[in-house]
Amino acid sequence: MLKDLVVHNRSYRRFDQSVRVSPATLHELVDLARLTPSSRNAQPLKYSIVTTPECCEKVFPQLSWAGYLKEWDGPVEGERPAAYVIMLGDTNIAKDFSIDPGIAAQTLLLGAVEKGLGGCILANIKREVLRSVLEIPAQFEILYVIALGKPVEKMVLETVGSDGEIKYWRDPQQGHHVPKRRLADLILAEK
Ligand SMILES: Cc1cc2nc3c(=O)[nH]c(=O)nc-3n(C[C@H](O)[C@H](O)[C@H](O)COP(=O)(O)O)c2cc1C
Repeated sequence: MLKDLVVHNRSYRRFDQSVRVSPATLHELVDLARLTPSSRNAQPLKYSIVTTPECCEKVFPQLSWAGYLKEWDGPVEGERPAAYVIMLGDTNIAKDFSIDPGIAAQTLLLGAVEKGLGGCILANIKREVLRSVLEIPAQFEILYVIALGKPVEKMVLETVGSDGEIKYWRDPQQGHHVPKRRLADLILAEK
């Protein structure tokens, strides 16, 4: 069921790093993204895929994890992503990438969940350092990094309470709680 995939597609930030993700798997995931809607069907998104431990080590320090969790510096060695998809915008094709990146990223992640993997979209990136370590040509805008791996996190979806708090939080057992607004609070009108 699509809803199961959507529910299980949380932003995972801790993984079993020993479970490697093959380039072939990432090719399959990017192939899903390839088939998604694109403004003017321009298809300006390109991808750089990273699966080797050496290259993963270069990507990891360029990312910022879970801004609301002030006490947490991101996943420790052993729980770091086993792969990354760097989503790039080809400025030779388009100057404005519209909502293509979001559609592509979510589709790619749903594909990952279907394969028993999971991941996180990251926008908080040291872009110029990443460009340099991965030797990404200037023609490509670095849009997002999608971190991937075999999740080891317990995720708890819950409903935003009367206090309106939307920040995710961790319980003492490191369960990760994600408040979502109630359906009734999203549908403004029904005519
Ligand atoms: C556009 C976008 C950018 C994001 N950037 C980051 C980021 O830089 N670091 C991070 O840890 N999470 C990032 N996230 C993940 C969000 O924090 C996460 O989606 C949110 O907490 C809700 O959790 P959920 O995805 O499990 O529903 C990003 C998500 C989106 C959609």
